[in-house]
Amino acid sequence: MKVIAKIDELKKAISEYRNNGKSIGLVPTMGALHDGHISLVKRCLNENECCVVSIFVNPTQFNDKNDLKHYPRTPKEDCKLLQSVGCTIVFAPDVDEMYPEEDTRIFDLGSVAEVMEGKFRPGHFNGVAQIVSKLFYAVEPNKAYFGEKDFQQIAVIRAMEREINTGVEIIDVPIVREKDGLAMSSRNRRLTENQRKNAPKIWETLSKSYTFAQNHSVKETINFVIDTLNAIPEFKVEYYEIVDADSLQPISDWNSSKRAVGCIATFCGEIRLIDNITYCVK
Ligand code: PAJ
Repeated sequence: MKVIAKIDELKKAISEYRNNGKSIGLVPTMGALHDGHISLVKRCLNENECCVVSIFVNPTQFNDKNDLKHYPRTPKEDCKLLQSVGCTIVFAPDVDEMYPEEDTRIFDLGSVAEVMEGKFRPGHFNGVAQIVSKLFYAVEPNKAYFGEKDFQQIAVIRAMEREINTGVEIIDVPIVREKDGLAMSSRNRRLTENQRKNAPKIWETLSKSYTFAQNHSVKETINFVIDTLNAIPEFKVEYYEIVDADSLQPISDWNSSKRAVGCIATFCGEIRLIDNITYCVK
């Protein structure tokens, strides 16, 4: 496994594969890797001869500078883990390599970027589009892999790809959870012992709401989730919305969408966690 910090060197290493007709897969990450990330890497390794994993804590997508400062960084452990699963290339640039000058590009991401995370984290998705587009240009992958834990992010990246048209195929990969149901996240390691004990209640509540939804309205289901979680000490739901899986716009009626997805962002102490569930209401 090669560990590379410079774009020139990365392009050279990848071209050896491309020139031999090999397919290139990209898994963009911000490091502090866990089994959720690794499921993307394994899928990428299954489908490509060359698997590039990028590790870069992207400053332009953090609207909260405190969150950026405290974002976990574990480069040595990450490389060890990636080596153990057979990753081909790790791309771990520094900020100056990715942003030699300020990136002033504003992407037209449309309405999928305006709701939920877009509303509560202004500028976040533009920052994601900036870094992912730079990675697409640097790696020129055939396929790029993203996790459904960040459900809205995938829709935003598809919108970005339609705009820049690099021809990269976007692949979405299911959420990986801890045994107790908590969606794996780099931020989980920042939870206190007590917060960690309560955090599985997010998925527990979403799962209960699936049953609740069978004989309640969308609005009642939303309130059920928000009220249940807000009753737990240290929990403060930022939003819970039930949206159409393609448009990401809120629905008011179960029948108005082919696939309804509930998306949550909740604070657990000062840590902000997200998760989602797909409903099937007959
Ligand atoms: P990061 O949070 O490190 O996540 C990297 C990728 O791993 C994302 O596609 C995310 O959805 C996926 N992922 C994280 N936890 C997962 C889980 N429990 N199950 C399945 N997939 C999971 O998302 C980002 O980084 C950044 O925004 C990035 C796309 C790298 C741009 O900076």
